Amino acid sequence: MCGIVGYVGHEERAQDVILDGLRRLEYRGYDSAGIAVIEDGKLRVVRTLGKLVNLEAALRDVPVHGAIGIGHTRWATHGRPSSVNAHPHCVGSVAIIHNGIIENHADLRDQLLEQGCAFQSDTDSEIIAHLIHQQRAQGASLLRAVQVAVEKLEGSYAIAITDEDEPEELVAARNGGSPVIIGLGERENFLASDIPAIRPYTQRMLMLEDREVARLKRDSVEIFDSEGGPVERSPRLIQWDPIQAEKGGYDRFMQKEIYEQPRAISDTIGTRVLEEDGDIDLDGIVLEPDWVRALEGIQLVACGSAWHACLIGHYMLERLARIRTWVELASEFRYRSPLIGPRHLIIPVSQSGETADTLAAMRHAKELGARSLAVCNVHESSIAREADDTLYTLAGPEIAVASTKCFTSQVIALYLIALKLGLLRGTLSHDQVRKAIAALRRLPRLMQETLALWSPLEDIARRHFHARDFIFIGRGIGYPVALEGALKLKEISYIHAEGYAAGELKHGPIALIDENVPVVVVATQPETYAKIAANAQEVRARSGVVIAVVEAGDKRAREFADEIIEVPSAPDPLSAVVASVPLQILAYHIATLKGTDVDQPRNLAKSVTVE
Ligand code: G6P
Repeated sequence: MCGIVGYVGHEERAQDVILDGLRRLEYRGYDSAGIAVIEDGKLRVVRTLGKLVNLEAALRDVPVHGAIGIGHTRWATHGRPSSVNAHPHCVGSVAIIHNGIIENHADLRDQLLEQGCAFQSDTDSEIIAHLIHQQRAQGASLLRAVQVAVEKLEGSYAIAITDEDEPEELVAARNGGSPVIIGLGERENFLASDIPAIRPYTQRMLMLEDREVARLKRDSVEIFDSEGGPVERSPRLIQWDPIQAEKGGYDRFMQKEIYEQPRAISDTIGTRVLEEDGDIDLDGIVLEPDWVRALEGIQLVACGSAWHACLIGHYMLERLARIRTWVELASEFRYRSPLIGPRHLIIPVSQSGETADTLAAMRHAKELGARSLAVCNVHESSIAREADDTLYTLAGPEIAVASTKCFTSQVIALYLIALKLGLLRGTLSHDQVRKAIAALRRLPRLMQETLALWSPLEDIARRHFHARDFIFIGRGIGYPVALEGALKLKEISYIHAEGYAAGELKHGPIALIDENVPVVVVATQPETYAKIAANAQEVRARSGVVIAVVEAGDKRAREFADEIIEVPSAPDPLSAVVASVPLQILAYHIATLKGTDVDQPRNLAKSVTVE
């Protein structure tokens, strides 16, 4: 979850490059930050509590000067946020930064305490500094010390180390899904936990694999495998445009990303739909018809909003491709001895491609013989690289912690997969797919029209932002839409919000309803309209406030709703995408009215790289 950056190269450049990189990584965590630079042969370490601006302010007053250093922005796992628990952690001449979780930290800590080590922090990470320092004290080179230390670690880690007694080199190591990206420059080299951090400086990058250790000097980068043998790896050319990640005139990234949805969806549909043939081309991914027909089932795994996209995918795959589909939270998948094998397809869905649970679930299914087809937004991410195939959502970088454009793009990517599988299994005709493509082509325009609700939704938000609790209900594909609406609201406004299948309302949550609890009702599906309208009436009968999302021109909504949000009509399952937009906007306005940090809500992180 944390962000790490390292630099070795030109005199006086370390602080600027590291701070700049950390700024781009702040979405990974932002409860504290720190930097260590070797200045005149001595480690200079500055650590601050809170967001990166605090570290920047401290360094403005007293800058650090040097040509080599490491920096970190933290999302606490072990030990509460504080300047003492902030990274880098230093022992003797060694300073380390760490992203991940050391699972055997308690045992290692006990052993180190017995050996007389004194700990400054409550973190699992400090253990790594002690282990490396012990090796250094026994005369090992920095590289060797790191190689021996990491042998003792269980869990996931991306680490970077600098040592004032080896002032020409940085060492880095990786295991278990915490990425380490190495950037190659001219007489300078970089490392980071994510590509955007160092993309402005170089396009040439190397990805460290699990259990590898790297040594970076200003003129060289060497990679070693777990046996210590040298690894030859050619750099990849990463060509994204870092400017895309700027705010582009909007107040907040989330607002920008909500507005980008028509474009994101149109790009994700892109050239994958073949109107004339009534066919889908999943970027050339080959799904052999015999294999597809013999498939016994599809397993979708994901976390957070991506899991909600999977719940919509569930409806689509079963309805269109008539194939048994399961959806599981990635964090739970491995704990039920999943019945999955060579006749199953696993679809991990992940914006970042780095979510530790999703990656672990995919790996587990692959070990059991399943084929994997990932849906990811970030190229070269761990899930994208390890999956047998990847269909990318072409949403562009998503910076706000709360997912918007990536969620709706994930639904579209899953729809394309469902259509393709339907064709291959013979459950859909080319004519049916042609109609689906026509509807898909109209979708970006419908999304654009939905964005016109921006101001009316602000008025609705103003009337309800004082509520302490919200309930969201839906049926069919409206149910995941309700779950996603509740998640959006709670993550950015800190209002307690729950999503429920409307039919479950009577089995508990109705007890919570009174005049202070707004209930958002997703009523855009004609198929389930009558039933959900009845549920809304039940809310009204108990003095609850009903905020209904309905199709444009709905005359009946007045009978059961206090607030009516009309969205353009779209056929299922695309109506789920359209109906999600006003819920994103509502959450945004409520959070803004409450004055919370919309893009970086407390306690959350964009990319969850710990299990
Ligand atoms: C975090 C983010 C969510 C995201 C989830 C899964 O909780 O805040 O927006 O949906 O992780 O992330 P992924 O990158 O796997 O889609």
